[in-house]
Amino acid sequence: MPATILVGAQWGDEGKGRIADWLAMDSDVVARYGGGDNAGHTVYVGQQVFKLHTIPSGILREQVMCVLGNGMVVNPVNLVKEMDQIQAKGVIITPERLLLSTRAHLITPAHIALDAASEKARGAGAIGTTLRGIGPAYLDKTGRKGIRAGDMVNLEDFADALQRSIQEANEVLARQDIKVLDADAAIAPYLDAAARLQPFLADTAVYLNRRLKAGARVLCEGAQGTLLDVDHGSYPFVTSSSPTAGGALTGLGIGPGVVDRVVGAAKSFSTRVGAGPMPTELNDAIGDRLRGTGERFWDEYGTTTGRPRRCGWLDAVMLRYAAQINGCTELVLTKLDILSGFDELKIAVAYRLDGQEIAYPPTTNAELERAEPVYETLPGWSEDISGARRGADLPEAARNYIRRVADLCGTPVYTVSVGPERDQLVHLT
Ligand code: GDP
Ligand code: IMO
Ligand code: MG
Repeated sequence: MPATILVGAQWGDEGKGRIADWLAMDSDVVARYGGGDNAGHTVYVGQQVFKLHTIPSGILREQVMCVLGNGMVVNPVNLVKEMDQIQAKGVIITPERLLLSTRAHLITPAHIALDAASEKARGAGAIGTTLRGIGPAYLDKTGRKGIRAGDMVNLEDFADALQRSIQEANEVLARQDIKVLDADAAIAPYLDAAARLQPFLADTAVYLNRRLKAGARVLCEGAQGTLLDVDHGSYPFVTSSSPTAGGALTGLGIGPGVVDRVVGAAKSFSTRVGAGPMPTELNDAIGDRLRGTGERFWDEYGTTTGRPRRCGWLDAVMLRYAAQINGCTELVLTKLDILSGFDELKIAVAYRLDGQEIAYPPTTNAELERAEPVYETLPGWSEDISGARRGADLPEAARNYIRRVADLCGTPVYTVSVGPERDQLVHLT
């Protein structure tokens, strides 16, 4: 009864959406286990670009049942909007296609206002969050005063809970001289959304375990990335959830014994959006070239916020760490096509910190800021590789680059992607 976990192995935006869409072909259930609509997963199907924030990418495969797991924080209003947007593109969403865990926590208008207030209060030390209310929602969850999706069943009680959450937030906002929320106006769309979502509510852990027992194949679709993990990332410049493989188990209520594959999605270079250390960041023409101008939908501008992403060479120190933390059984490299046309390519193979070479990222940001990448230079290739489908179609230098990444991370790479379209995948074995 195999489950596959798909995690982001860097700072998010590795191309998890398109890899999930590929893995979903052989899945019966696709489940999101953490995060909320801070995620932005882009999937290109035919001539349509889907940008999924809360709904798993598996929704684009007809045979797949999608699950929003207990580990998520869900904005019900935005979820309904997203359902409508996807339905407008011809994907019908019914409770036969999507389930929402009664145990998932809800993002309220209070959380969104508090996210902005918290960022403002941090000033120059701001995290650069997506302002979706993620941090405050998880704070209420662990503070044991959150509102859960199951609470949407009784609309009167739900309205009262929202009212209390907004009142409490308004006191904080008033102290910071920030405009307070109009509770009634904020609550109305939540009640509409709750009524729409009631039929989708279920105990998804019971559902998943029943399906697994009956032999269903489950894909756990990660959001964010390992280096944004609240435990394992560059704290405090992280998100408030556990995007790593361990998070899939608690975030869905399944045991480790059902997992037989952990896929780490990694971009062939590094990107990060938001603040925090990024050792291989390039503030030069190479960084600009990796980013792209923004004209193509796959250029490096945030799917959720539109912010330009910080870009740099591949960081194998971080990737090796991510492969270890997640117990990756394989890595998938995405956007290899973007590396075509560079004379030479660099990979950070270690950091130099206070005169010593280290193979894993140090714990503190002060150390990470001081760490200097030790680069290895590899020959580039000039060929357009977007039409490659088998290893033999790739230039020797590209195959060499992939081999080197696998060696440096001690993890095999069987698949790389060379474009955003469904079939733009190279199978190396
Ligand atoms: P996610 O958050 O991990 O799902 O990644 P995003 O969707 O935020 O960002 C990845 C972007 O790269 C999307 O626009 C994808 O369509 C695009 N993409 C994914 N794989 C490839 C690839 O192999 N080549 C190119 N050029 N674009 C890709
Ligand atoms: P996907 O699933 C990239 C980043 C934000 C910020 C930090 C905290 O598309 O890979 P938050 O709003 O979560 O409190 O912000 O985390 N971040 C992401 N960066 N991709 C994501 O999701 C992200 N989700 C959050 O930019 O630095
Ligand atoms: Mg994204």
